[in-house]
Amino acid sequence: MIGIKNSALSLILDTEDKRMLEEIKLQFLGRSGKLTLAIKDITKVPVERRPEIGRLANEVKTTVEEAIQRKESALKSEASKTREKQIDVTIPGIKPTIGHIHPLTQVLWEVVDVFKTLGFQAADGPEIETDYYNFEALNIPKNHPARDTQQTLYLDTRESKTTPGEVILRTQTSAMQGRVMEKTKPPVRVIVPGKNFRYEQVDASHGFEFWQCEGFMVDKNVRLTDLFGTIDYLLKKLMGEKTEVKFATTNFPFVEPGVDTYIKCTVCKGAGCGFCKGSGWSEIMPAGMIHPNVLKTAGYDHKKVSGFAFAIGLSRLVTLRYEMKDLRLLTNPDLRILEQF
Ligand code: DAH
Repeated sequence: MIGIKNSALSLILDTEDKRMLEEIKLQFLGRSGKLTLAIKDITKVPVERRPEIGRLANEVKTTVEEAIQRKESALKSEASKTREKQIDVTIPGIKPTIGHIHPLTQVLWEVVDVFKTLGFQAADGPEIETDYYNFEALNIPKNHPARDTQQTLYLDTRESKTTPGEVILRTQTSAMQGRVMEKTKPPVRVIVPGKNFRYEQVDASHGFEFWQCEGFMVDKNVRLTDLFGTIDYLLKKLMGEKTEVKFATTNFPFVEPGVDTYIKCTVCKGAGCGFCKGSGWSEIMPAGMIHPNVLKTAGYDHKKVSGFAFAIGLSRLVTLRYEMKDLRLLTNPDLRILEQF
């Protein structure tokens, strides 16, 4: 009896499996189980020893039954613990944060769409540019005072064969004028969106890297009024039909005449604020009629064709459109800002 008890208890202790436990139960307590048979055999024991053996048998039976019960509940709680660790498919999932197009890109795509309808193609140019295309081909020879306004970042080319000072980070997407015209016969209508770099003090309306979209068109009989019409059309499409646009003369070496385009400041609605420097108008697109020297340098006959060029300050356009007071918000990675667009 004691032997049966010990072997039953050690088996129960060792098992970690519900089905095995069932088998052990049968093996000892089933109809022909070891313990059941042993109890039946008590009848074979001499009468005087029966009560003692009977008591012992009952004790063994209870002990084994209890051990089985204890193990059963232990295995059950173990199972429920592992179930907890499993995935509960009924729990609502964690919403993935899905990104969206950056406001700068959104506006850029709109600009590209407007110009597509006007027959312009979009071109991409190098951010690392040569002095030639960034300046010389644009009628800005070496030592021209206009270079001072461009806060140029020069690349250290001492370890290459390049002449020092010839390789720069482009300061203006206008640098693509020469590259495109050299390779394309007129008529041309091209826009060049891209990043520019200048050694600038960063503030609410200036960045050391900024987005611009250059555009130019060369054909027979292109006039200043074509430029005005194109710009006015674009700005009304982008900023709303009621947008007020005005032009004023200015100077850039690669255009003659040069014009500055202003729109009524969207931040203060014309009242005057820090963003528009108190004038009520925001400068948004410098432009002009392409200088004959630029056409000549590119191999065009300036007596047969003429053209206009313009640059859209994309970063500025976005801040004006969304009435942001600070250009730096556009490069701020804080999603609470970007999610608003
Ligand atoms: N590239 C000039 C700049 O960034 C802006 C500019 C002025 C571009 C007049 C033009 C233009 O195409 O006609 O300072």
